[in-house]
Amino acid sequence: MAVKIYVTKNYDELSKVAANILAAKVVLKPDCVLGLATGSTPIGTYKNLIKKYEDGDLDFSKVTTVNLDEYRGLERTHDQSYYYFMHDNLFDHVNLRKDASFLPDGSKPDAAKECEAYEEKVASLGYADIQLLGIGRNGHIGFNEPCDEFIQKTHCVDLTESTIEANKRFFASANDVPKQAYTMGIGTIMNAKSILILASGKDKAEAVKNSFFGPVTPQVPASILQFHQDVTLVVDEEAYSLCK
Ligand code: PGA
Repeated sequence: MAVKIYVTKNYDELSKVAANILAAKVVLKPDCVLGLATGSTPIGTYKNLIKKYEDGDLDFSKVTTVNLDEYRGLERTHDQSYYYFMHDNLFDHVNLRKDASFLPDGSKPDAAKECEAYEEKVASLGYADIQLLGIGRNGHIGFNEPCDEFIQKTHCVDLTESTIEANKRFFASANDVPKQAYTMGIGTIMNAKSILILASGKDKAEAVKNSFFGPVTPQVPASILQFHQDVTLVVDEEAYSLCK
């Protein structure tokens, strides 16, 4: 297995290591394509990247970003849209060009058309130089939920009950969580030149074990990463606790 594994003491250390890896990419390739992710896990990473920018150590002026996914049916101004999240947690705080960040547009109702357009956009950029990923409790990456096949391209998905449950904390109730999303496919993710996947906390221990130490199966979408040539897993002790 080509996966490089860094086990950190806790979430703060994980966030620093992850930010250093992304920063190194930006330093070595100033016009790189960063593949970014939402969720609670990368927030600390983004905070560290902002700090590096504020300290004058990092320049995003030539960087392009692509994001994994977006809820279907939310306007970009909705405070739970991933567009909003990315601006709030990173884009508005660094010197990224305004036209250099791409996410699927969840407000576009024609799913097939929007997903095809997004796939073409990411392909036209040559895919991500480094793709940041969180991992779902069920082993999902992006919104590629456990299913019977690895779906290759950007597509519209029905969110599983477990994902809706996990995300309802951000909405007034589970009923308000969108039921669908547009997500990069497994192929879109695997086309990234390198992958940086983060996992923190006991809740993720099972998913980490199944993804990196179990069989490769679409029932555990992240397990496909065992076939990628350049994967770095940064994981804290709790999330790694079942792997020893
Ligand atoms: P989390 O989500 O970082 O909020 O745990 C990760 C994911 O579902 O991909």
